[in-house]
Amino acid sequence: MPDVTVVGSLVIDFVFQVQRQPKPGETLTAEAFGIFLGGKGFNQAVAARRAGASVAMIGRLGDDVFAPLFEQALDREGIDRTGIRRSGDGTGVSSPIVDRGGQNTLIVAPRANLTLTAADVDAAAPLIESARVVVAQRETSPQSIRRTAELARHAGVTVVWNAAPAGPAEPEMFLLTDILVVNELEAEAFAGCRVDDELAIREAARRLQERGPRTVIVTLGERGAFVRSGTREQRLAAFSVEAVDATGAGDAFVGALAARLAEGAPLEDAARFANAAGALAVTTLGAEPSMPRRGEIDLLFRTSEPR
Ligand code: RIB
Repeated sequence: MPDVTVVGSLVIDFVFQVQRQPKPGETLTAEAFGIFLGGKGFNQAVAARRAGASVAMIGRLGDDVFAPLFEQALDREGIDRTGIRRSGDGTGVSSPIVDRGGQNTLIVAPRANLTLTAADVDAAAPLIESARVVVAQRETSPQSIRRTAELARHAGVTVVWNAAPAGPAEPEMFLLTDILVVNELEAEAFAGCRVDDELAIREAARRLQERGPRTVIVTLGERGAFVRSGTREQRLAAFSVEAVDATGAGDAFVGALAARLAEGAPLEDAARFANAAGALAVTTLGAEPSMPRRGEIDLLFRTSEPR
């Protein structure tokens, strides 16, 4: 019985480290390059596992050279991958471009991830129904995401939806979600308003909450995070860390949040723990290598005051 089940994407990241982001039409020479395992779903599964949860993952890999790399990594981490199948399309790929300030822009081709069907999710239903917390994003097919939330909701399992990346709105998903996690750009896209100052963040969270979720969390990168749950609001300041690569920081937040909630921690506590995990993730290049372990999170959480 997993504490946390992640239904989501597995994507191989070709990471380019550059001095600054390229302009349209410009060719830049990278200062460094690396190939890392990633995908929001995979990163969140690894983050939850390293934060101390037992984890299962449901998803789709391609039938190609990248699939065994993910399968071996999941086995190494001790993540149940009985819900992961291979399909004819290639494994998802992406190109994060990371600048000197650690900020990233990213292009994703989800490929096999989009072939995850509602029937695949049904076939793995026991992994969802027996979990404490179920996590989904927006890098698999809309049908798979909705079916995940329906099964979890029906079984009384907490649904954490990281509505990333932004895209066409799915009204039913908001209704089926307990805890919505978005970054500023996603908050803007889904709430339909600018999110450029503290008041606007509060307003966006309130608007998103009206669509269904009891709790809305807006992650704010180097400015921390904002949590609205019921009528309570919590502003989490950021931890002071040396930023190397922001890729996967949101995923570390979501995975750690799910793990801590699965332990029965109150939301406020779980959000602060997740905030520390997100901060640690920006200190290392690449998504998978940067997902922090429980000991590191506890240390930062207990010994450092956020800025
Ligand atoms: O959130 C970061 C992840 O998004 C990267 O690992 C990339 O694969 C994209 O899916």
